[in-house]
Amino acid sequence: MGQQGELQGKIALVTGAAGGIGQAVVEKLAAKGAMVALADMSADLAENLAQDIHEKGGQAVALPGNLTDKAYCDGLVAATLKALGGLDIVINNAGLMRRGNITEASDEDFALSMAVNVEAPFRLIRSAIPVMADRGGGTIVNTASCWGVYPGPDHLVYCTSKAAIAAMTRCLGRDHAHQNIRVNAVCPNEVNTPMLRTGFAIRGLDPDSAIADLNATVPLGHIAEPQEIADVVLFLASDHSRYMCGALVEVNGGKPVY
Ligand SMILES: NC(=O)c1ccc[n+]([C@@H]2O[C@H](COP(=O)([O-])OP(=O)(O)OC[C@H]3O[C@@H](n4cnc5c(N)ncnc54)[C@H](O)[C@@H]3O)[C@@H](O)[C@H]2O)c1
Repeated sequence: MGQQGELQGKIALVTGAAGGIGQAVVEKLAAKGAMVALADMSADLAENLAQDIHEKGGQAVALPGNLTDKAYCDGLVAATLKALGGLDIVINNAGLMRRGNITEASDEDFALSMAVNVEAPFRLIRSAIPVMADRGGGTIVNTASCWGVYPGPDHLVYCTSKAAIAAMTRCLGRDHAHQNIRVNAVCPNEVNTPMLRTGFAIRGLDPDSAIADLNATVPLGHIAEPQEIADVVLFLASDHSRYMCGALVEVNGGKPVY
């Protein structure tokens, strides 16, 4: 893994590294030669993933913690510099989804969703920009959602938080292009990950049959697998997207938000 890849020598920080999409992103970054800092609140999963990457010949370090902890968040870039010696790529992938319309949303739903989906990327990017500017540039990929671009039904807090990270991405893409820092976002529709599956389980549905039903609604025939999103994240993190700044890239298998 990673000996002669096109991201050889690049240093990446990935949040939500142990989740469905995060893990796929980490594996692809490492396979292309990047050294990867793994941020996730699941310390065990992050450590296991780092170990797995090492066993495949790649380089990764686990930096576990909770992104609602402002001090942890503000220190992640410095921790990456200390552990890996630089920072070229930030993937703001961690996120959570709370269901419901506005009358069903609690203060906690709103505060937690905004803290993880919006404030954490704000804090990480704020500390990453000066480091990247000093190094002559970098790339940042945020994870918005198709539901942050179009209003999906009965997910008021989630859609609002994803619209905020989409707007942040467009602002940053404009503000920091002159420093050769490119900021873009991937906007998936449904993806086959623990986030989606646990959502079905909470509602008393069998995840496998619920996903089979969802697959039938997608023109390409199936909801996204994490690797199909990770490939787009890698594109946005790499020089292949070198003229893109502030783009919101929808990855939806042809399925619109209803
Ligand atoms: N799955 C989908 O259908 C879908 C669709 C569109 C966008 N997204 C977005 O993709 C991203 C990844 O989602 P996923 O489907 O892989 O979800 P996931 O639940 O599999 O992974 C999310 C990861 O984020 C971590 N995380 C959550 N809160 C955290 C916190 N406070 N501190 C540190 N880590 C925390 C979790 O531990 C987990 O490993 C999210 O931003 C999500 O909103 C997902």
